[in-house]
Amino acid sequence: MPEPRMIKHLYIAVIIMATASSCYYDNQQDLYPGQAQCDTANVGFAKNIKPLIDAQCVGCHNTAAPTAGVALSTHAEILVYAKSGQLYGVLARIAPYTQQQFMPPGGAKWNDCNLSKLKSWIDKGAPNN
Ligand code: HEC
Repeated sequence: MPEPRMIKHLYIAVIIMATASSCYYDNQQDLYPGQAQCDTANVGFAKNIKPLIDAQCVGCHNTAAPTAGVALSTHAEILVYAKSGQLYGVLARIAPYTQQQFMPPGGAKWNDCNLSKLKSWIDKGAPNN
């Protein structure tokens, strides 16, 4: 018969193991079924691109008050920056863009899936789809 102190240690060890292993199945596929894959094949401007720009960019970059001369209110306005490479550059935070040009200023970088969708949309000519 093991002494009580050993049993206590055994309990603690079992609890630690159970807690640690509970993280094992927390992969993206199990937590978000169907979202683990990033669908870059069917990117729509209205569905995937404009809502993000409306939410994060037009406060500063709108037709009436275009900060730094950049307006992103309409497809036609956005198209200019999509084609110039500036839109992808400031969002993906790649050279030659530097810290003060990373958008949105002080906000989080777009996640990899949204950046992939943006790139796919731009590569297809940034259609108004
Ligand atoms: C808080 C205001 C603000 C918000 C929000 C904002 N911007 Fe900007 N943006 C600026 C300022 C200021 C500059 C000028 C930066 C510089 O060159 O110093 C700028 C510059 C730019 C440029 C030109 C970069 C260059 O120099 O070539 C682009 C493109 C741009 N923003 C896109 C975006 C996009 C896309 C978003 C949304 C994800 C966004 N911005 C959100 C303030 C903002």
